[in-house]
This record gives sequence, structure tokens and C-alpha cells, in this order.
Amino acid sequence: MKAAITATAKYLPDTVLTNHDLEQMLDTSDDWIKSRTGISERRILRDPEKPTSYMCGEVAKQLLEKRHIDAGEIDLIIVATMTPDMMFPSTACVTQSIIGAVNAWAFDLNAACSGFVYALNTAARFIESGAHKKVMVIGADKMSSILDFTDRNTAILFGDGAAGVIIEPAEEEGFGILDARLYSDGLNGKEHLYMLAGGSRYPASHETVDKKMHYIRQDGRQVFKSAVISMADVAEEIMKRNNLQADDVAYLVPHQANQRIINATAERMGVDHSKVMSNVAKYGNTTAGTIPICLAELDEQQKLQKGSNLILVSFGAGYTWGGIYVKWQ
Ligand code: ACO
Repeated sequence: MKAAITATAKYLPDTVLTNHDLEQMLDTSDDWIKSRTGISERRILRDPEKPTSYMCGEVAKQLLEKRHIDAGEIDLIIVATMTPDMMFPSTACVTQSIIGAVNAWAFDLNAACSGFVYALNTAARFIESGAHKKVMVIGADKMSSILDFTDRNTAILFGDGAAGVIIEPAEEEGFGILDARLYSDGLNGKEHLYMLAGGSRYPASHETVDKKMHYIRQDGRQVFKSAVISMADVAEEIMKRNNLQADDVAYLVPHQANQRIINATAERMGVDHSKVMSNVAKYGNTTAGTIPICLAELDEQQKLQKGSNLILVSFGAGYTWGGIYVKWQ
């Protein structure tokens, strides 16, 4: 038995932060940002009273509505995030309380930008085993809560957003989540993209705040190189394992970090640009949110038909990366 996606939903905050707005705050330019990343604007959840779980709650409510089910029918909630409301309890438990999913168990999964593909694959196992019938998987990040808006290397790249899916047993054989390949490389990755403080290594102190250790830091060039290679490799691997030619692919749904990384992945797959989902220009990198936001937009635009072959691919801090093959039911 395979797991299939039966509902999609997204939530993007209303406040738009454009490249021109960033020009007022940083030594950068709209031209530089657009040419290096493809990003024009991103959304910011300005209200300090609204953490990541607020976005998860908005997504979860829509998912229930779209699927016409009660919260009590959900068996499991997984929230992929690297910006949880707090260290504990999990943002998944907070989301559970928002919708009143009294019969679910709930946990967070942190694989940074690969969080959603990790979570979707994990959730699929609970459906395939027969343990569960309805699982909610949400990718959500309030990146503005960990961005240093004086650091032009990172502040321009990210935005806030969330989206998710419900997965259930596929109605027919041969449909649903058919294959997944997931990877981690902490040996080479852990030094290049991180937020040092706030955990047990550097608990919050005056010193960690003074040294700005509660913000995301990266070696962008190094991350870029690894992302291009790993996303293209895993996309190619998924195609080979499933005997897919470029023409068989309805949509490549890549993590939205940088248009140049997306283009390089599509080129290696030989997939035409018309089949590549891209919304990085309007939302920037919403980390665990990017892939489900893309899925929700494709679904809203009614671009997904029964039998459409989708390849989801991601890369993020860790390093973590992976690909999933979905045949839409
Ligand atoms: N505005 C203007 N100039 C800038 C900016 C900016 N915002 N940021 C850096 N520069 C400058 C640099 O200081 C450098 O100047 P120098 O040559 O005088 O030293 C110059 O621009 C070139 O910098 P590079 O870092 O080489 O620029 P690059 O073409 O690599 O682009 C970028 C930088 C966009 C960060 C790119 O490396 C990238 O996208 N990396 C991937 C990072 C990423 O997406 N991380 C997110 C999480 S992981 C993931 O989602 C895949």
C-alpha cells in the first residue's frame, strides 16, 4: 500500500518585503539580488505575537476544510521546521492544540530546508505500514525570527511561509508516493550553514546575544556548490530508479533557494523550464515551506492531473538532501 496526497494548503503572511525595501536597510541592490538569486520579494510575518505555529494552524485548518474531515480523524501531525515556537513543546503539539486533533500524536522534524521531504517520507511509512489512515505533514518556517537584517549574505535570501498536505492510503496501486532517496552529510555540511546558539552547546546568554549567535550564518558559496551537485544528483537518481525520461515528468518541484540552483537541477534532468515549479521570485526561501507551497500552488492552479509524475527535490543545512517521486492520484 502506498501513501497519496489527498489535500494541499498554504499560508503566506500578507506583509511583502521587496528588494527595494532591503536596499534601504543593507548595502545591496535589487539588481544584485535578482541576478544572483532570482528573488524579487518575500513575505514576513511581522506580528511578534504570531510564531511559526500560527502559520501551521492556518494551514491545518484549511487542510481539514479542503478534505471535509474533522480534526479528530487525524492520526499523526508532523511539522518540519527549524524555527519552532520554542525548544519544547513541539510546534506540532501546539498545532494539534490549535485544531483540536485529539486522536493524533505529534512531533517536529528538523532537517532545515529538506524538512518537508524528510517528513513526507517519514509520514508515508506510517501509511504504508497500515498503522495510520490520515497524516498531516506541514513545512513551516518563520525565518525572519532568526535573520540578521544587517547581514546582506543571509537577510536577502529568506522569507516566512508554511504549507502542508494530508496523506492517506492511495486509492489505486501504482499511485501516490512511489519512491524516495534521502541523504545527510554532517561530516562536510555542519560547518557551512548553522545557527550556533540557543541550544545546549551555547545556551542563551548576554554573550551569545552580544555576539549575534542567535542568527543564521552560512558560507553561501560553499552551500551553493554542494546544493547544485546534490539536488541534480538525487533528481537524476530518482529518474533512473523509476525509468523516467524527461518527457515523463509533469513537474519538477525543487526547493526554492535560488533560481540558479533550480535551473542547474532542471538542466541535468533534461526537463524543460515550463515543467519546473518556481516561485522563489515572490517568496524567497521559506526553508521547510518551499516544496509544499509549490505543491499547493500547482494544485490551486489545477495543474495536477491523475497520473502526473512529480519529482520533489531538496537540499539544506546538515547537509541534508533528498528526492521523492509522486504519481498524483
Ligand atoms: N548584495 C550585494 N553584494 C553582495 C551581497 C548582497 N546581498 N551578498 C554578498 N555580496 C557580495 C560579496 O561580498 C562578494 O563581494 P566580493 O567579491 O567583493 O567579496 C560578491 O557579492 C560575490 O559574493 P558571492 O558570495 O561569491 O556571491 P554568489 O554568486 O555566490 O551569490 C549567494 C551569493 C546568493 C548567497 C549564493 O552563494 C547562494 O545562493 N548560495 C546558496 C545559499 C543558500 O541558498 N542558503 C540557504 C539554505 S541552503 C539551501 O536552501 C539550498
